[in-house]
Amino acid sequence: MRLDVFTLVPHAFGWLTEQRPLAGILGEELELRLLSYRDYTSLRAGQVDDEPYGGGAGLVLRVDVVAAAFDAVYGGVPEHRVLALTPQGRQLTQEVVEELAGEERLTLLSSRSEGFDERVVAHLASDAISIGPYVLSGGELPAMVLLDAIARRLPGALGSEESGLEESFSAELEGGLEYPHYTRPAEFRGWSVPDVLLSGDHGRIAEWRREQSRARTVH
Ligand SMILES: C[S@@+](CC[C@H](N)C(=O)[O-])C[C@H]1O[C@@H](n2cnc3c(N)ncnc32)[C@H](O)[C@@H]1O
Repeated sequence: MRLDVFTLVPHAFGWLTEQRPLAGILGEELELRLLSYRDYTSLRAGQVDDEPYGGGAGLVLRVDVVAAAFDAVYGGVPEHRVLALTPQGRQLTQEVVEELAGEERLTLLSSRSEGFDERVVAHLASDAISIGPYVLSGGELPAMVLLDAIARRLPGALGSEESGLEESFSAELEGGLEYPHYTRPAEFRGWSVPDVLLSGDHGRIAEWRREQSRARTVH
């Protein structure tokens, strides 16, 4: 996948790109570019946003700045999906992540302050995505959430010791929640690990896990 993120704070992504799963697939399954709107604006002093028409607090990311960035990077509005990150968008779920992980190319647009000039969402983006019904100060964290969720669905992202199949919301668990995990010690302050997990009977363990997953999902 080739994925571009437009942001005002490219360096914010440094930590994420040094961690697995991203670090393991960068330059291979994932070609990532972190692009700053400021590098493409023709306005003085790197200006990218402006006061809202009609008045009000905050600044709005300018449509001409985003369009100029697209012209420079893609030669116009790209044909692939462009996701504007906004609390007003379609809510992110694992189903949406699976859908996006199947794309060959994606562009994420983040904003700060009051958000995008509406014409960015209407004419330059193909989708609007929200990571949840709450408001953050900028689109960098939402972009990182999306980036991480997509990256772990790409081939080679997860090591053999991590299961990307039997996870919460996966088809393997019928879209439900994952079963509980335990590790050593088997007994701690009187809190015991369920006997079945110590039995070595893989058939019974699998059955117990399915039951636990279903029971958790019902609530
Ligand atoms: C303070 S928010 C703007 C909120 C906007 N004025 C509103 O009320 O809908 C600034 C930016 O943070 C990002 N953002 C904040 N919350 C988000 C969320 N839940 N999902 C996706 N992006 C979000 C978006 O890029 C947004 O443009």
